[in-house]
Amino acid sequence: MTKVMEIRNVETFYGAIMALRGVSLEVNEGEIVTILGANGAGKTTLMKTISGLMDPEKGQIEFNGERIDGKQPDQIVRMGLAHVPEGREVFPYLTIEENLKMGAYCRSGNIRDDIDLVYEYFPILKERRSQSAGFLSGGQQQMLAIGRGLMARPKLMLLDEPSLGLSPLLTQEIFAIIKRLNAEQKVTMLLVEQNANVALHTAHTGYVLEMGRIVMAGSCEELRKSDDIQEFYLGRQEETQRGQKRWKRRKTWR
Ligand SMILES: Nc1ncnc2c1ncn2[C@@H]1O[C@H](COP(=O)(O)OP(=O)(O)O)[C@@H](O)[C@H]1O
Ligand SMILES: [Mg+2]
Repeated sequence: MTKVMEIRNVETFYGAIMALRGVSLEVNEGEIVTILGANGAGKTTLMKTISGLMDPEKGQIEFNGERIDGKQPDQIVRMGLAHVPEGREVFPYLTIEENLKMGAYCRSGNIRDDIDLVYEYFPILKERRSQSAGFLSGGQQQMLAIGRGLMARPKLMLLDEPSLGLSPLLTQEIFAIIKRLNAEQKVTMLLVEQNANVALHTAHTGYVLEMGRIVMAGSCEELRKSDDIQEFYLGRQEETQRGQKRWKRRKTWR
């Protein structure tokens, strides 16, 4: 299998606060790799470090065999990395179709076919294509953010918590499309999620991030069976949150 991304020992800081404490992971071509972690674990920091929005203090990031740590975000985008950020960040005053065109700014060639492909996966965006993106619901904005990422024809797509703020039903719908995009369009994805249940049923491989460290890794099938994952991440929502607090306390005792 071809390695699309390899991250070795990455450390990232906010001033004196160490948010990533030596993170290493790999993404192979064609895979969906998920990173699970509670609120504040460092997931978004990792996404920003990969896409060049934050510089790591230590460690290396290779994308298609080339070092990208230290490069500017626009250079990394041009190399084929699309970042679908936490909170979608669509351009509210642009129409849906204009938002999609913005996603292709870094590449040349005919983009009509790509817009049509996005509309095939997200028919609601086609219906509303001339409306301002600010009027879309949260779920539709998430669809637009993913569509905009696809417009770059990325070799790797980073998805930061696509389920954030969405109902369980909408979450299921969006993840079904993420799965189809991976299977049918061969989009390789690195998917960050707090919702372990849906992530472990979507991705192939998973890592668990706890307070800036990878504490567990494996195939999603293995992770689903793990007692720790069952107890701390796959319980009922309120039990899981209690479990995560317990886990944090347990860590501070050590
Ligand atoms: N702008 C910031 N300044 C200082 N600390 C931050 C900032 N953003 C995030 N952090 C801290 O870094 C840690 C990781 O945050 P983040 O990557 O956003 O976590 P996650 O995405 O997993 O919820 C948290 O402890 C958070 O408080
Ligand atoms: Mg986050």
